[in-house]
Amino acid sequence: MGKPKIHLLGNTSSLINQYVSELRDENVQTDSLRFRFNMERIGWIFAYEISRKLIWEKKDVVTSLGVASCEVLKQQPVIATILRAGLPMHQGLLNAFDKAENAFISAYRKHRKDGRFDIKVEYVSSPPLSGKTLILSDPMLATGASMVLSYKELLGKGKPVHTHIVSILASNQGVEYVKKSMPDEDYTLWLGAVDDELTARAYIVPGLGDAGDLAFGSKL
Ligand code: URA
Repeated sequence: MGKPKIHLLGNTSSLINQYVSELRDENVQTDSLRFRFNMERIGWIFAYEISRKLIWEKKDVVTSLGVASCEVLKQQPVIATILRAGLPMHQGLLNAFDKAENAFISAYRKHRKDGRFDIKVEYVSSPPLSGKTLILSDPMLATGASMVLSYKELLGKGKPVHTHIVSILASNQGVEYVKKSMPDEDYTLWLGAVDDELTARAYIVPGLGDAGDLAFGSKL
């Protein structure tokens, strides 16, 4: 249903492409501190780009020599992140929007015997969202199902005026799913890179592997 504005930052040569190439590189991935830090740095870059679309107001600031007319954010966004892979990028977004409110969603793949899976959301912690700008981030947009389901869960906390959906790496299929399945049109999609393929187990190809495991170690 939704027809979002899509910003693919990787289409312009800039530092984000350097960081994404390191996230993908299996030789660099052995350094999980660097992996997390690159995700955090990409969070900073997304925050800067998103900030250009927010509403600003004038504020007189008293310096030691006079009064400077400055611009400050009119309203802080709410930054929502899907656990656990989203945490390092969340930190980057929050470092930039340091007064933002925060929301967390735990969504996971519950695998069925036939190899397919359902997305289960078990935990949502969020401030009220009515009238606010929401930044919803997950580093990997594979099928798109977790992102859309998480957004729908967050709507239980009120309807944001606008939502910025942020992913470092997306599949074409995930982007199409989000466009088809978001329940409204007040959103913008921010992406670092888009890959063509998904494996049968819904991993992005060439992708980078399992972002949560690379950041925090493998799970049982
Ligand atoms: N989640 C990941 O961590 N990697 C993928 O390729 C897809 C989803």
